[in-house]
Amino acid sequence: MGDYTQGCCGCDHSETALLQRIGELAAEYRGKEGSLIQVLHMAQGLYGYLPLEVQEVIADSLDLPLAEVSGVVTFYSFFATQPRGKHTIRVCLGTACYVRGGKKIVERLKKILDVEIGETTKDRKFTFEVARCIGSCGLAPAMSIDDQVYKQVNPDKLEQILQRYYEEEE
Ligand code: FES
Repeated sequence: MGDYTQGCCGCDHSETALLQRIGELAAEYRGKEGSLIQVLHMAQGLYGYLPLEVQEVIADSLDLPLAEVSGVVTFYSFFATQPRGKHTIRVCLGTACYVRGGKKIVERLKKILDVEIGETTKDRKFTFEVARCIGSCGLAPAMSIDDQVYKQVNPDKLEQILQRYYEEEE
């Protein structure tokens, strides 16, 4: 097995190379109606998120004011201006989960992960969010990590659950 972090495919994954690629891609869309959202999606796919330096490259390449690009990025929740974790944890705070201890799960995870809601852990392993309902109200409190739903979550078992995600990547 090759080392996938070291440019195993021969591509240049450096930040400068990525910004250049995004600029080139964006330039192809210059002057085309409704292209900004498409370009932002592509850029987020390539870069992982849309920090100011990416927005600047896009604004330049599309010949748009930076304020317009930033306005669109902040308006749509699917665009992220902060790096995201490899996994997304969503704790349900819908009514059923809230009354059955969802808040305790949130508080415990904030401590374990050392993040606030909406933030990503320093090791970029987890992004921590809350949700309104994840469809498991009968087995509240519930949370999900990516597509996996955890039901009747016991706050004392959270570290055990997270451990699996650290182990699987070792
Ligand atoms: S309220 Fe939490 S799963 Fe529905």
